Amino acid sequence: MAVLVSLLAACGDRAPAPPAGPAPREEMARQYTRLMKSIDLQFENLQADLADGKPEAEARARLGSIRSLAEQASRLPYRADEAENRDLAFQFAAFLDALKKVEQSPWTGAEGLRSWRTVGTACAACHNLYRKD
Ligand code: HEC
Repeated sequence: MAVLVSLLAACGDRAPAPPAGPAPREEMARQYTRLMKSIDLQFENLQADLADGKPEAEARARLGSIRSLAEQASRLPYRADEAENRDLAFQFAAFLDALKKVEQSPWTGAEGLRSWRTVGTACAACHNLYRKD
């Protein structure tokens, strides 16, 4: 017992070192927001490219960027609630599946715009659950 008490006292002496930067979770949350902003930019530019009749290869390059950004965001368990982090990862997997399906559709003209709206619906499926603004 005495040993335990002195052990505890010794631990109490050592104050935890102040964190060097922002808490990792805060940093993850900032990174997550940055990734969402980049995804959004690609998504908006994709619509503009389709409206301008750009070649399909450009649309596919933007889809590739959206995929890679979403994969990065999916690896950031930035929420305090671990169950939410697990569900978010699950939602990202569903989004990436939907993206894979719609990538097989044509990406020019009216059909391209329809495919673009399908991607938007997949974004909204997660936002309806997890985005508050
Ligand atoms: C699996 C979930 C998920 C998917 C898929 C997803 N988002 Fe998000 N998005 C979020 C969450 C959660 C937030 C809110 C982040 C926060 O502030 O906690 C968010 C925030 C945003 C924001 C606001 C960023 C800011 O400035 O605060 C934009 C814009 C956005 N998403 C665009 C998109 C677009 C476009 C797509 C689809 C191409 C998409 N997102 C797909 C979960 C998702």
